[in-house]
Amino acid sequence: MSYSKGLEGVVATETKISFIDGEKGVLELIGIPIGELASNSSFEESVFFLWNGRLPKKAELADFESAIRARYDMPAYISQLVMSMPKDAQPMHVLRTAVSAMGLIDPKPNATDLPSVRDKALTLLAVTPTILGAFHRYRKGLPIIAPDKTLPIAANVLYMISGTKPTPTMAKALDVCLVLHTDHGLNNSTFSARVVISTLSDIYSAITAAIGSLRGPLHGGANEGVMVMLNEIASPEAAEQYTLDKLAKKDKIMGFGHRVYKSYDPRATHLKVLAKQLAQDTGNMALYDKSTAIEKTMATAVAAKGIYPNVDFYSATTYHCIGLPLDLFTPMFVVGRIGGWSAHILEQLADNRLFRPDVDYKGPHDVRYTPIDKR
Ligand code: SDX
Repeated sequence: MSYSKGLEGVVATETKISFIDGEKGVLELIGIPIGELASNSSFEESVFFLWNGRLPKKAELADFESAIRARYDMPAYISQLVMSMPKDAQPMHVLRTAVSAMGLIDPKPNATDLPSVRDKALTLLAVTPTILGAFHRYRKGLPIIAPDKTLPIAANVLYMISGTKPTPTMAKALDVCLVLHTDHGLNNSTFSARVVISTLSDIYSAITAAIGSLRGPLHGGANEGVMVMLNEIASPEAAEQYTLDKLAKKDKIMGFGHRVYKSYDPRATHLKVLAKQLAQDTGNMALYDKSTAIEKTMATAVAAKGIYPNVDFYSATTYHCIGLPLDLFTPMFVVGRIGGWSAHILEQLADNRLFRPDVDYKGPHDVRYTPIDKR
């Protein structure tokens, strides 16, 4: 029996979905390097790829896209629920609650046969962006924008949030972000989903657990933390001292470090290029310059400890330039990662074994019960 805190270095399952080499900074989705997929694929095609283990033929992709768009609309019950939520509720809590509520209106919520689970996953993939857009407009007192079934997921979610159709550049930028966020080995939220589904529980419980995990600032919530940090820094020139001051206080710099990557996160490489392009296009170069100044300071201060930018560092600037409100950054991570969570749920069910690790008990033994009047 061996113990590793936080399961660091422990192999908890086998997978054919994504491969990470933390030393070399490599991420492959079913063998395709993430940069190649992000440069050539689309989010919908990448999800088909992960769910089927191969890239789709043209007609298959068209059918998959049509099947998703046919499910964009929120069911009436979910629409009523979302529009009754507190307007100051945090969007990640709204998503977690609404996804859980989707199980209330599914006639067979507990089905775990693969075709049924795949069908439910398709619905969640399609409706989550609509839930996000609807809640955002509702909380701002703006007219709700119905999904546009002529648009892919990335363009459609931007449209439902902002009320205007995004430019091709912005839609493409978000599509690339969604591809980059689709899957990433056995990260905490994916592990959460696999642990829950391994009891043969339902996909709604598994994805709800995953959303709860992703919200944490040590995981998906870091992208919002990066934006808060960038906003706190007065100018690019102030970034170095700000970073050194935080390090001196042993504060974690959001968007840096990784349990697996001890080198540059390949997704960050791609996002850095995207962030610069968008920052130039939208007059946000100060954000990008603050980011590169932080990166330069961290390279000198902690790179020797294997601490480099992760996926969240440059996604913050990218999302800001795309026009996303800060508290929709992590929900956008959910929109992308539902693709990966679902792939892992299907893989777990296809060859399931209940997760039940052991513990190293450190408490007392043979203790007698003391009656309450003798305590
Ligand atoms: C994601 O797992 C995945 O794949 C996740 C993800 C995915 O796609 O699903 O990649 C997405 O969650 C990316 C990570 C986002 N989180 C953050 O950016 C939050 C900031 N990062 C840290 O909290 C931290 O790096 C973790 C949580 C990501 C990883 O932490 P570990 O592996 O538990 O490492 P650790 O906390 O034990 O730190 C080891 C050392 C410590 O120094 P010493 O005490 O040994 O001197 O590195 C230092 C830490 O203080 N360190 C940092 C740091 N991260 C680690 N110091 C400053 N800033 C940081 N960000």
